[in-house]
Parts: sequence; structure tokens; C-alpha cells
Amino acid sequence: MININKDGPVFHLQAGRSSYIISILEGRYLIHGYWGGRVETVNPFQLFTLGTRPYSVTESMDSEHSENFNRHWISNGGSLSDKGQLNPESAFSPERLPLEYPTAGIGDLRKAALQIRNAAGSPSCFLEYRDYELIEGFPGPSGLPYISEPPETCQTLRIGLVDQVIGLRVDLYYLPLPSLSIILRWNRIQNNSETAVDINHASSASMDFPGDDMDMITLNGSWGRERNLHRRAIAPGIQSIESRGGTSSHQHSPFIALASRDATETNGTVFAASLIYSGNHRHLVEQDQYGSLRLQCGINPNGFSIHLPPGESFDTPAAVLAWSDSGLTGISDNFHPFVRHYLLPALWRDRDRPVIVNTWEARYFDVNSQNILELAEQGKEIGGEVLVLDDGWFENRKDDKRALGDWVPDSVKFPGGLSDAVNKIRNLGMGFGIWVEPEMVNRDSELFRRHPEWILGSTGRKPVLARNQIVLNLGKSEVVEHLLDVLSGLFSSTPISYVKWDMNRYMAETDEPETPHRYMLGLYRLWSTLVSRFPHILFEGCAGGGGRFDFGSLAYMPQFWTSDQTDAVERQRIQFGTSVLFPPETMGAHVSAVPNHQIGRITSAESRGLTALCFNFGFELDLTIESEKDKAVYSRLSRLYKKYRTLFRTGRFLRLLPELYHFNNSKSHQRDSHAWSIVSTDKNESIVFYFQAMANPNDDGRWLRISGLEEHSSYMDVEKQTIHDSAFLMNRGLWIPPAAGDYRSVFWILKKVENK
Ligand code: GLA
Repeated sequence: MININKDGPVFHLQAGRSSYIISILEGRYLIHGYWGGRVETVNPFQLFTLGTRPYSVTESMDSEHSENFNRHWISNGGSLSDKGQLNPESAFSPERLPLEYPTAGIGDLRKAALQIRNAAGSPSCFLEYRDYELIEGFPGPSGLPYISEPPETCQTLRIGLVDQVIGLRVDLYYLPLPSLSIILRWNRIQNNSETAVDINHASSASMDFPGDDMDMITLNGSWGRERNLHRRAIAPGIQSIESRGGTSSHQHSPFIALASRDATETNGTVFAASLIYSGNHRHLVEQDQYGSLRLQCGINPNGFSIHLPPGESFDTPAAVLAWSDSGLTGISDNFHPFVRHYLLPALWRDRDRPVIVNTWEARYFDVNSQNILELAEQGKEIGGEVLVLDDGWFENRKDDKRALGDWVPDSVKFPGGLSDAVNKIRNLGMGFGIWVEPEMVNRDSELFRRHPEWILGSTGRKPVLARNQIVLNLGKSEVVEHLLDVLSGLFSSTPISYVKWDMNRYMAETDEPETPHRYMLGLYRLWSTLVSRFPHILFEGCAGGGGRFDFGSLAYMPQFWTSDQTDAVERQRIQFGTSVLFPPETMGAHVSAVPNHQIGRITSAESRGLTALCFNFGFELDLTIESEKDKAVYSRLSRLYKKYRTLFRTGRFLRLLPELYHFNNSKSHQRDSHAWSIVSTDKNESIVFYFQAMANPNDDGRWLRISGLEEHSSYMDVEKQTIHDSAFLMNRGLWIPPAAGDYRSVFWILKKVENK
């Protein structure tokens, strides 16, 4: 809901249980008035105070504004001056104002949201309020991912700002979601002047907060160790995370949260922001000299610049802003339904996901029509539903040194053609999926020989390699057209029901500062065309595991391969952090072999299976050599997954151990425990998982407190047939007896039995 008080004006956006208020000072400055728990009435004169700061730029209000402001400010609890007159605070420092879209050159020395350079080379810009418009619907940034077909009617607020001197117009777009405490923001920058302007930085969102003590929470890691939760106290200066390799990255997920010092997993105030974008990003908080905080997110300005000729405009990606007064749980309670009901491609929002049998860790490059059929037969026996032919299926692809770019099936490995192999798999009653990595070439490929000018960094230097491959420049429309042709041919030549879309290196050489963003626009055009041409195909994104797992990817691909790390214990931590942002049905999670191929750890079939069970379940191991005993475990867990997958896709995912308390670091992990549960929307069922990495010496057992159950009810532990009071479960918990042995995993199915 958007309320506009026209005198002022003051814009009051109500989203779920939150409010977001923007006001205007002196008809010019756009003020960030408030973001937090929902308020019903707004008094514009209580939103901020005026005043100057020593050694800083000072502006004076014109006398009419000043008198008006001070009269109201005083009658609303502000103070008179010592001399008993109206508070003489008619002067103010922009640096002291909580601003909504600050620019460089106005005397606010904190980080600007927009940095430009005009034709004369000046970075100065003063955006003054001009107009607003209430738009029915949800217009989004051009060519960039955004929500589609929301479940309810929505209104968007547009606020126009203008710098008259340089002829620049900036429109800020706000979409408050009616039933979630989420606001979407994005901006359009329009050059209305006669000369070109360079945009060197354009935040998607910027907000100033009063200087309460707060912590910064981010999700960080590396390849094979994505999205470990980090929490640190905010200190004076800028603290930021950013990605630079052309993707949202393994190192720093595009996410930042400011949490009150006392916030925990379930309590306390948290403000979170995440971009709907898969390229280079920066999320930062700046604490200024007086302790105020500025939160900002957007495309990473380092190495970025967009040249905007007269008459042209530039759209920023959208930011998703979520507010919670119930810790990180409240943030996930907003982000998960946001992904489920607004972001995922509409067709996949209500579809259960199949059990995957993937060839990669089973066969690596050594795939052929015979061995994938054998794997499919074994997979079918343990409940597999789609056989996914991973890397190695195309002509000349013996290893990772060659053939990327030439998407022609290998006629030696598949003598009857791919269709023949696919038909045999389909005759087993399984679907067929295929792996592609279309954004890359190897030097040893027909495509590179034909079009060496299509790569990134084609400036005459020898291209820099990573995993022996080079990135194609998707900023060039001919490259996107070529990929559309080749992939459309492949996807329509065989009955493919699933595609794993991979991307296995970062960008190193980007010829121009526009390239990384132009690349993303090309990639999004490619994805949106393919997903609308092939709506029946389930696309799973991958970038060396979770290197591009973000809201931008999920707008096209309803699931993502969470990590190349398939060890159960490591996966528990990764899935734990990933769940802050994404609901379980978006996370690919497969049972792999032991000793684990990434780190050599040996865990039981049960542990590996339960770690993956409530996500996008699948297998990634050579089932032809697995023991009958382990295969029996896999079959049982596949059946369980199928029975409960609708609950996993629709239920409320809850993290049960308060890891958020810790200022943790990703290396001190050996003794970790993890626990999560999924509660059905009607609270009739809850499936609870507990994992303990290392056995505790002299273990005394522990209680695991369960959240999200129906109050005043009882639940039956289905296996033990014991009845538990829901209040007892939520206050004390389930008892986990001591047990010997590492890598323990336990689960419970709880069913509601009565209402007291
Ligand atoms: C990446 C992916 C893996 C697999 C290989 C194939 O590493 O993350 O799952 O598909 O590529 O080369």
C-alpha cells in the first residue's frame, strides 16, 4: 500500500508488517524518513531533525520553509532555542540528513549512491525532487530480471529527481509487496542534456539509519565452501563485500544484513538487502563520524562505467529490501515466499522437482550410450526420475582442455546419436537432462577457430585461461544470436526435460568498463528467450557450484546447483547459509560417493541422504558399484523425498540451531552441528533434521528445540509413536541421546494429533 500526503509530500509505503517513508526537505532534498516496523500515521516533522555540523557544508532553508518546519517541529516535541525563540536550526548540513539517493558534490561526504562525470569532466550532481507518479502494476528495469506475475495486485511509486544544470533525470521506482515485509527498488537514469554523461556508479538502493549499534551479516566463502554466514560489528568507515569476476561469485553472495547487536536467529531487528542481479555487485555499509549508517547495494562500481549519450537511459538492477523484527528467521520468512510466489518462473512455482541421477561424479568425462543407460537403470531402481548427462557428451570432449563451444554430440560415444540414447532412457520411464556450458570456448574448438573475435579480451593479447577456457563476449548480439540458434537446435532435436546450465570461470579481461554489465544484459536476453521457447524444460543453474546462485538467476532458472562440494558435513554448513536467502526447492543437493571426491571424508549413506533430502534431491555417484546395503538406504530416502517433496517445496524452512549468535569464521567448523525443519503451511506436519559432525567426548545428550509448531497442540513422533506437547517441543525440544561415532544424522516426522 502506498499513501501519499500531498503537502510535503510524504510517501508512506506499507509492505507486510513494515513501513518505508520518504519525505522531501525544502522541496528539494529527498529524505530517507524511516524503514522499520509498520506505522499507521506519519508525522512528517518527526522524521528527522535539522542542524549543522562543524566543518561541513551548510545550507539555509528559505525563511518560509524554515518557519513552517520549525513551528511544526517544535509543536511535535522539538525544542525552542536557549533564547526562547523558534529553534534557529533553519540551517543544515546535507551531511547530517538521512538521504534517499545521495550524489557527489552536495556537501555530503558519505558514499554517494550515484557518481557521474559530465562532458566537462565534473563529477558534481545535485538531484532535486521534481515529481512523482503512482503506477498500477510492477514495471521493472529494462532487460534485467524482475518479478513476474505476482499473486496479488501491486502498485509502484515513481519519484522523479532532476539535476537541471547537467540535464540529468533519475527516476526511483518502489514496489512494496502487500503481504511481505519487502520493498523492491530500482532506478532509471536519463540523460536529457545535449552532451554525453558517464555513469561511474549507480546504486540500486541507498538508505541512511540512525547510528544504533549494529552488526553486519554477510554470506561468504570460496569455491566448494559457499555462503558461510559471517557476522561482525560495524566499525567507523566503509565495510563492504563485492564481486569482480563477472558473476555474483562464490566469495561474496549479493547480500547484506544490518542486525541489531542483540539480534539472534529468532529475535531482534534485521534490515536485509540483496540484488536481483548475477554480475559484479557491491553491498556496503558506511558508519560516519557521528555513528550514522548508510546501507547501499548495486552493481560494483570498480571497473564499471556506462557512457550515456544524449537522450539515452540506464536502468539499475532491482534490490530486494526485507525487514524483520524476528532475527534472521524473519528475513528468510520474507525472502522464501518472495522467491516462491514472485520471482521463480511462473510455470515452475507449483511444480514438484524430480529425483536427479547425474553422471558427473559417477563417470566424469567418460560417458557413452552404454554406461549412461546402465546408470539410468540403476538410478531408476533407487527412485531416480531424470538421468542428467553432464559434461563429456560432445564431440572431442575427452577432458576439460577442448571442445567447449561445439555442441555436437560425440558420434563415437553415442554411435546411434543422442536421440537413440535418450529414447532408451525414456523407455525406462525416466526423463533426460543435459549439461551445457554455452558461455565458454576452449582454444581447441571449432567455434574459437571460426570466431576468435567473439571472446572477452580479444584485444591482441594472448587470452588468459582458467580451467583451460575463455569467456565468450555475450555483450555482442551476434554471440547471443549464435547461442540461441545452436541451443534451440539442441533442445528441440531430442526430448530434453532438464538442462544444467554451467559457467566455470570468472572473467579476467573485460575490454571496456561497460563489458561486464553488457554481458549480463546479453545473458539475460539469452535466458529469457530460451526459457520462453522451451517452457517444459526445467533449467538448473550452476557456476562451478554456487558461483552465480542469486535472485537474478532464479528469475529464469528455478533451481541452482548449490555447490561442487558434495561432502555431507561441508554441505550442511553451505545449505544452512544458503537457506538465509533461498527456499529449499531452489537448492540442488545430491548424494555422492565416499570417500568424498572433494575432501576425502567418509560419511554414511544415511548421513549423505538426509543432508540432501529436503532440497532438490538426487544422486551423483556410480550406482553400478554401490553396495546393495547403501542402495537400499538410497531407495528408502527417494521414497521419503517423493512422499514429502510437496511439503518441502511449500513448507516453512526453519534453522533450528542459533548459529547466528556466533561471530563465526569459516575455518572453525569441525565440530559443528546443524539442524533444520520444514513445517507444512497448515502446521499439521513437521520434518526435523539434526546433524552432528563430530562425536563429543563424555557426551551427555542434548535437547533440540523445535520451532514453528501449532500452539496448544500435540504432535506424534511417527516412528516412535510417542506424543509430545507442542509447547514442550517449542520450549524444551526433542531429546537427542548421546551416541558414539562421527557424522551423525537423525530425523523425525512429527504429525499433529489433536487440538487441546
Ligand atoms: C562444474 C560443475 C560440475 C560439473 C562440471 C563439469 O564444475 O559445477 O557439477 O558439471 O563443471 O565439467
